[in-house]
Amino acid sequence: MAEKSSRLAGFYKLSIEERAQTVAEWAGLDGAEKAALMGEGLTPEQANHMIENVVGTYALPLGIAANFQINGRDYLIPMVVEEPSVVAAISHAAKLIREGGGFQAEVTAPVMIGQIQVLDLPDLEAASATLEAHREELLEQANCCDPLMLRLGGGARGISFRPLPETPAGPMLVVHLHYDVRDAMGANTINTAVEAIAPMVAELTGGRTNLRILSNLADQRLATARGVVPAELLARGEFTGPEAAQRIAEANAFAVADPYRAATHNKGIMNGIDAVVIATGNDWRAIEAGAHAYAARTGRYSALTDWHVNENGDLAGELTLPMAVGTVGGATRVHPTAQVALKILGVGSAQELAMVLACVGLAQNLAAIYALSTVGIQKGHMRLHARQVALAAGARPEQVEAIASQLIAEGKILLTRAEELVREAP
Ligand code: MEV
Repeated sequence: MAEKSSRLAGFYKLSIEERAQTVAEWAGLDGAEKAALMGEGLTPEQANHMIENVVGTYALPLGIAANFQINGRDYLIPMVVEEPSVVAAISHAAKLIREGGGFQAEVTAPVMIGQIQVLDLPDLEAASATLEAHREELLEQANCCDPLMLRLGGGARGISFRPLPETPAGPMLVVHLHYDVRDAMGANTINTAVEAIAPMVAELTGGRTNLRILSNLADQRLATARGVVPAELLARGEFTGPEAAQRIAEANAFAVADPYRAATHNKGIMNGIDAVVIATGNDWRAIEAGAHAYAARTGRYSALTDWHVNENGDLAGELTLPMAVGTVGGATRVHPTAQVALKILGVGSAQELAMVLACVGLAQNLAAIYALSTVGIQKGHMRLHARQVALAAGARPEQVEAIASQLIAEGKILLTRAEELVREAP
């Protein structure tokens, strides 16, 4: 059988039902799974088991980004996001990278870090040495509580020490437990493990333990995406392809050098990543925290991406960031639409999901800085704004495009004019 292609020509022109049907066929969704896309997702009863004081559920748009090819395989990308342009822009960027040979992605082992804070120690170095001497017992104790994880090949991998001689509460030693959590996001596993070894840490060092909790700066669990866009494909507006490639590299340099720009640049990356993290029922605050902390790892907040013109004159990009996501457990299992999103993605492991997410971030960033460094961001936004004004003026769905085009052609996107056009429309 031929490999499935994620190039869904004309997908955006279909009705919602037709799009859902196309995706259902693509991913082999059954009737219930398709219904979960079409509004029959999380029930209030299911929601009631997830959090407290539930009074209902809250819906957001779920769109599909096309054109992704990662490590030679095609993916359709489910995205839950309220911001217009994100899905269209990323699909276009993924197409450009596809033309350059597709995304290349890699990922580390899914190793999470758990922290134990140890206080009241007279000598931080001596305490570290004592714990180091008992490394094997500590790792064994850390493996006490999740036999399934061990059977699946996960478990404690190592211990490291971070002496903090000067803090507002005096000297403290921070013990890091490194734990491979396989396909889980891993918060529960790692928190259980650090709680399990903390009494031993206190006893061995004679210190007092306080916090025992994972770190969201999951820098042992990184995903990397790379992609190349042939320069000639980047011609846009008044710029030739090579000029546009150069301007994109300059945009990246701006974000590398300036934290004010880096914050916005990285926000654009997270527009894509968060949308997929949410779609798959993962913890997007954890991913956000990890991304921004990683962006500041040198002591100065900077861009997460690198874009440069390579030796062939083409545009080459790279993104690496922590990616603590799971494909089992938590909301990924409970939320019916998250289950469907994972099925559409077709990822076989959390590591594969992490690679997809890095590629999504790279593509979303390319879309943003390509527009910003050529025609500007407002051009595309104006069309969406015009559509929204047309809708607000009472345009019927089949009238929206024509009225939006007319507003743009007249150069004034005003509600009063849109209302006139609605009255005059056939
Ligand atoms: C808007 O949501 C995201 C951008 O501001 C990202 C960027 O500036 O790179 C367009």
